[in-house]
Amino acid sequence: MGLYQKLKIVKSIVFISVLFISGCNWSQTNEFEPIEKVIDEALHFSARQSLLMANSLLEKDGLLPKTADRYGNLETCNPEWWVSGFFPGLLWYMYEFTKDDKYKQLAHSFSMRVADQQYFTTTHDLGFIIFCSFGNGYRLTGDSSYLKIIETASCSLVSRFRESTGCIRSWDPAEWNSRWEYPVIIDNMMNLEMLLWACHQFNENRFCDVAITHANTTLKNHFRPDNSSYHVVSYDTVTGLPECKNTAQGYGNESSWARGQAWGLYGFTMAYRYTGDTIYLNQAKRIAGFLLDHPRLPADKIPYWDFDAPNIPDCYRDASAACIICSALTELSQYVIPELSEEYLNVAETQIRTLNSPHYRNTTNNNGNFILKHSVGHMPDNSEVDVPLTYADYYFVEALIRMKKLRGSE
Ligand code: GLY
Repeated sequence: MGLYQKLKIVKSIVFISVLFISGCNWSQTNEFEPIEKVIDEALHFSARQSLLMANSLLEKDGLLPKTADRYGNLETCNPEWWVSGFFPGLLWYMYEFTKDDKYKQLAHSFSMRVADQQYFTTTHDLGFIIFCSFGNGYRLTGDSSYLKIIETASCSLVSRFRESTGCIRSWDPAEWNSRWEYPVIIDNMMNLEMLLWACHQFNENRFCDVAITHANTTLKNHFRPDNSSYHVVSYDTVTGLPECKNTAQGYGNESSWARGQAWGLYGFTMAYRYTGDTIYLNQAKRIAGFLLDHPRLPADKIPYWDFDAPNIPDCYRDASAACIICSALTELSQYVIPELSEEYLNVAETQIRTLNSPHYRNTTNNNGNFILKHSVGHMPDNSEVDVPLTYADYYFVEALIRMKKLRGSE
């Protein structure tokens, strides 16, 4: 037997052993598995995990999932915290997928835990909190009692807009040590979806005016010539001009924090969906170009937590950024020429396969029964580093459902 044949036999033995050791997980990550099968399996797993998580929280009145601690225990938050609406929203997606009333009941009851946030005027995160929960709830059930909650939350959100700056204030002075006069973060693009939807639903032009002005101001001031974005732009409230451009959660003021780029991509794609204005579509395409052409985007398409983190490749990835990008690219693929569409969908599919692999996917009865692992919340604060995060799960499932609908309609 020649050396080449011996090598082939050794390779086969190693391959079969890997198959045996990895058990069924291997088939879930196999790059030759049809994407439809990968998506369905991931959605069934997500449905099981969310049910376990919901059951573990039934007795904990008013609390919502946030992350898992280093011992693998579920960490919760109060409804005021910006992530509170994601788990109710995830349950609504699970209802959409399973059509099982038990998810509908859970989604409703967890949504009600965040309902009082509609009155809060001290946060810009109302879109995340109220629209992921009640927005999805109304979309799937038409329950008219959810409408008033969304309308009130929209009024609360626009109360944070100031004409002089042309945008909605993100953080109040008490937060982040009053470092900024009028801070606006790129994340805030996401909260505009509730306003753009509510504008048409309630025939209230003020909601659109505020959302569009905010998007235009962000487009003008948040982006660098290479189409990456700053995290925080703070405004001088007298002149209305930016007073400084910084970061809070990224590596540095001039770095490209991965989740910030993801929020921008998703936000401008969504703004195009509601307005049909190609300035937003073009911005979304430019952000996608920055991300997908970036030399430090790994081949598996899960970004490092910051594209300019100093110790790449020996630093943490951020699965949450990947999930947001994946969902946004799936949508954006519908608005562009076939060549770009194919590129975006290839990246989104790679992300789905990677996130569904044993490295990123959580296992049952671990880490609070989240779906995914390996996200980064706030690295400079050394909090929520390399952990599951509720919004990673939400956007992962949203991406799966979007891709499933797309593949089903082809
Ligand atoms: N909106 C806060 C974050 O993305 O961490």
